[in-house]
Amino acid sequence: MKAIIYTEYGSPDVLQLMDVEKPSPKDNEVLIKVHAASANPADWHLMRAEPFLARLENGLLKPKNPRLGADLAGRVEAVGKNITQFQAGDDVFGGMPLDGLGSFAEYVCSTEDALALKPARLTFEQAAAVPLAAFTALQGLRDKGQIRQGQKVLINGASGGVGHFAVQIAKSFGTEVTGVCSTRNLDMVRSIGADHVIDYTKEDFTQTGQRYDLIFDAVGNRSVSDYQRALSPNGICSVAGFTSLSRLFQIMFLGGKKVGLMETAKGNKKDLLFIKDLLEAGKVIPVIDRTYTLSEVPEAIRYLEKGHARGKVVITVEHNNK
Ligand SMILES: NC(=O)c1ccc[n+]([C@@H]2O[C@H](COP(=O)([O-])OP(=O)(O)OC[C@H]3O[C@@H](n4cnc5c(N)ncnc54)[C@H](OP(=O)(O)O)[C@@H]3O)[C@@H](O)[C@H]2O)c1
Repeated sequence: MKAIIYTEYGSPDVLQLMDVEKPSPKDNEVLIKVHAASANPADWHLMRAEPFLARLENGLLKPKNPRLGADLAGRVEAVGKNITQFQAGDDVFGGMPLDGLGSFAEYVCSTEDALALKPARLTFEQAAAVPLAAFTALQGLRDKGQIRQGQKVLINGASGGVGHFAVQIAKSFGTEVTGVCSTRNLDMVRSIGADHVIDYTKEDFTQTGQRYDLIFDAVGNRSVSDYQRALSPNGICSVAGFTSLSRLFQIMFLGGKKVGLMETAKGNKKDLLFIKDLLEAGKVIPVIDRTYTLSEVPEAIRYLEKGHARGKVVITVEHNNK
């Protein structure tokens, strides 16, 4: 089967489409014929080993795991003998464990806990767009952010992969949502349910005098004092991304009780089913910016790395059934 492989750290030029052995499922695994996958910043952080700390997890000199791709949607091809929830022919979506990335491939094995049946109303591309970005939005808002009905919530980076899920998930909790994005994305952010939008090219959300109960930052480009200025007295700021190591360390060490990094998002069955319900109810609708084929993964990552995706970047996996 074909898969994207990288054997050294570097630019997207290190990514190669290669023939590798098709996996076979262990007793507790599900073999999936991948129809679509989606790209996340985690893919290029690992590919480039940036920040350098990524090397501690994935190998100091070269990647221990030569595969990328965290999210997938596809059809179950075979199941191990301990699998009870899925059978061959089921359409599923979900993820790979972060240390086992590899969905940029024609087939993958994953575990029952990482998968759910694909909502029928979603295409494979839409379903593959969801897992990691939506886990991040949900866990950042709910766990670090302690989101509650009736709050005023601000999402910074509301047009991106994580941000556009955060807007919709925050709305589903019954909050009043302000989305921060650039001029070209104002209509898109309104269309996914934001009550208010702020164009970051024209206005600084920390300088308007407006206070928020919860700020979820999917960009991570502001200082701790900026966040504090825009928070209500009991407000919480949950930061998912970062734009420089100095910003990251400032938030880690100077954020105090109110401003902090969310934990690294973790895929789990309970949250996947929670998100699946929102998808089935039409409360969350994935936005796909661009689609690329498996051989075009380097271009997909090059595009994502620029930091201006509008929704998600999706990989469509075509199968050569000759
Ligand atoms: N903690 C975790 O577990 C976890 C998990 C997943 C992702 N993340 C992190 O979360 C961040 C977001 O991920 P993502 O998948 O959403 O990335 P993405 O899809 O690449 O997000 C790009 C978006 O950011 C917006 N943006 C760029 N500069 C901005 C600014 N100054 N103000 C407001 N919006 C701005 C862009 O809008 P414009 O084009 O309009 O500028 C674009 O829509 C990344 O740093 C990623 O590493 C963390």
